[in-house]
Amino acid sequence: MATTEFISVTFPNASHELKPIPGAGVDVDFLVRYARALDDYGYNYTLIPYGSTGFDPFTLGATILAKTKKIKIIIALRPNTLYPTVAAKALATLDQLSGGRVVVHFIAGGSDAEQAKEGDFLTKDQRYGRLEEYIKILRRTWSSKEPFDWSGTYYTFKNFHSDVVPKDKNIPVSVGGSSEEAYRIGGSLADIFGLWGEPLKETKQQISRIYTEAEKAGRTDKPRIWVTFRPITAETDDLAWAKAHKTLDALTQHTANGLGKSAPNAPEPQNVGSQRLLDIAKRGEVQDRALWYPTVTATNARGASTALVGSYDTVVESLLDYVELGADLISIRGYDNFNDAVEYGTHILPKTREEIGKRFG
Ligand SMILES: Cc1cc2nc3c(=O)[nH]c(=O)nc-3n(C[C@H](O)[C@H](O)[C@H](O)COP(=O)(O)O)c2cc1C
Repeated sequence: MATTEFISVTFPNASHELKPIPGAGVDVDFLVRYARALDDYGYNYTLIPYGSTGFDPFTLGATILAKTKKIKIIIALRPNTLYPTVAAKALATLDQLSGGRVVVHFIAGGSDAEQAKEGDFLTKDQRYGRLEEYIKILRRTWSSKEPFDWSGTYYTFKNFHSDVVPKDKNIPVSVGGSSEEAYRIGGSLADIFGLWGEPLKETKQQISRIYTEAEKAGRTDKPRIWVTFRPITAETDDLAWAKAHKTLDALTQHTANGLGKSAPNAPEPQNVGSQRLLDIAKRGEVQDRALWYPTVTATNARGASTALVGSYDTVVESLLDYVELGADLISIRGYDNFNDAVEYGTHILPKTREEIGKRFG
């Protein structure tokens, strides 16, 4: 518990969900200023997400690593987009360039339509099967001193060897998802397992499913658990709630006029993680201490969407509830990306770390 770490998310420009800038390109000044702010305020990692329409995480990541000192990058990677031997070398090269500051986060692919956009027509179960093989190939590549052959269901190659070895001979592998296949593959193979913010009871159930799969696979260790929230916070609870309602109004309006993350009248998402969030949202707006669901409904659970609403103290206490439950990594990102990252860095990170030290240290 004493090693709880914090994650943010990288944005290549000033566009954000409250003030979208349609078609914005990479704004290098923004990217670097934002990454340096995360580094200065003590975030440990920044996730660089992947989407079929979005920027390339590897090149954004290389820029961030070149311009920062400590923060690690988490490259989101869909196996269909890159042959595994190529990915193993790209990740290891970045890891060498940065002195060991690379993590890879795998996305099996939650939507058939999204996968089809980049030529992937496997079923979801097959995508998870391919992910399993992919992770094994990366590990083999990073540890193998000799050339090796691979003859699997999804990949076959002969006599491959890489001279590019990650700094610590390995790169942490993360898996995200909430389906049975995600639990099985992440539980058996991942160093880190990523979850979206659910109530304490459901989070606990998911953690034990993942640990059970780790045990079943004969592991002596367990994946570190990563939970994700979108805090909406201010000096007092009242101010935070006023901000939360303004945030919700903006999200609802942008979804309706086609500028939101989710299209107006989008169908129910296919990925289990989003379906779970939408089901829980039907139970009521607030769960536990401060977990708020209207932001989930307003965005059709497109990505991490559960908010934590309250004063700095309320949000810190809520995060500590999850640390107590077994969260090793906490992802917090807001809606006004840059300003929220600074606000958390000033009021949330130091206090949460101090309390973790006192209560669990
Ligand atoms: C922490 C976290 C980060 C994620 N990042 C991405 C991402 O960058 N791009 C993406 O398409 N899906 C992302 N996902 C979504 C899932 O990985 C994806 O929907 C999954 O492959 C299938 O989900 P399921 O097993 O819940 O059905 C993320 C999920 C989690 C938990």
